[in-house]
Amino acid sequence: MKTVLGIETTCDETAAAVVSVDEDGLGQIRANEVLSQIAEHAVYGGVVPEIAARAHVEVLDRLIARALDKAGIGFADLDGIAVAAGPGLIGGVLVGLVTAKTLALVTRKPLLAVNHLEAHALTARLTDNLPFPYLLLLASGGHTQLVAVRGVGDYVRLGSTVDDAIGEAFDKAAKLLGLGYPGGPEVERMAESGDPERFALPRPMLGRREADFSLSGLKTALRIEAERIAPLAERDVADLCASFQAAVVDVVVDRARVALRAFSGVAGRPTALVAAGGVSANGAIRRALAALAGEAGLGFVAPPLPLCGDNGAMIAWAGLERLRLGLVDDLTAPARPRWPL
Ligand code: KG4
Ligand code: ZN
Repeated sequence: MKTVLGIETTCDETAAAVVSVDEDGLGQIRANEVLSQIAEHAVYGGVVPEIAARAHVEVLDRLIARALDKAGIGFADLDGIAVAAGPGLIGGVLVGLVTAKTLALVTRKPLLAVNHLEAHALTARLTDNLPFPYLLLLASGGHTQLVAVRGVGDYVRLGSTVDDAIGEAFDKAAKLLGLGYPGGPEVERMAESGDPERFALPRPMLGRREADFSLSGLKTALRIEAERIAPLAERDVADLCASFQAAVVDVVVDRARVALRAFSGVAGRPTALVAAGGVSANGAIRRALAALAGEAGLGFVAPPLPLCGDNGAMIAWAGLERLRLGLVDDLTAPARPRWPL
């Protein structure tokens, strides 16, 4: 059995986790501590990088101690220290990376500098022991990609967004409708009681041959409708949210269908359709993707809700996957604000 500590500080979640893997490759989450900074950023309607970095400094060491306590182990029991070295807000990334390097130096354990996107991409193997290759929709506040996951470090991007990320589109929609931050959960909650057919919003990119996304036009159309019927009653906001979410769902399904077709050309037959990243918490998107997978005769895998958003367990797991392949880093590993898959 191997055990790794995972540290995540790339955005507005401070997280530390302990994950083990047995000889058969089965992962076990032994502790998964997450402290969200949402309250600190909500007043600004988005993440403020300087505030985020300072908040990580305040809590990270305690969070690591707590994760080890919950797992019932000490530093000596670890086989490696994994940390998200990017992509993300550089101040926060530095806090996590310097902490991990210091721990690696003092304990003389291997450092595993993990790509945050790769960690989201590999989470399905922790939760469902999923074999390669699979088709991944990775959708978060900063990223939207359809990727053929062929192996650790072996990714073929089949599509991405030409403008806003899906989570970003949800966040902007929420903001213009006067809802809180982060917007995704708020829009989804309001959409439950709304009429998805009241507003005819566009479905950008529908039918295109490449699996790319474009979401800024949808956001603009939403704003125009909201301004047209202002002032907005609660009913209007619910209908706007439902119409917006329905448009996003249609786009996601259409783009994923195109990517499924392209998949066989680069990776053969997928073992499953996988959703990851914060947006994969969305129930309507999950249901639609599950139906699409069913049509294609594939399983659908999405992490349980606590593992959809940013967390330390996914970093520890990605570290374990890399450790198993001997992909360890040394103390020169850079912090990377940008780091494509
Ligand atoms: O992966 P994540 O926690 O952080 C990033 O790396 O960005 O994703 C956060 C994003 C936010 O934009 C948030 O609004 C979105 O995921 N999100 C959702 C839902 N829950 C979170 N979007 C749609 N529906 C949701 N239920
Ligand atoms: Zn993320």
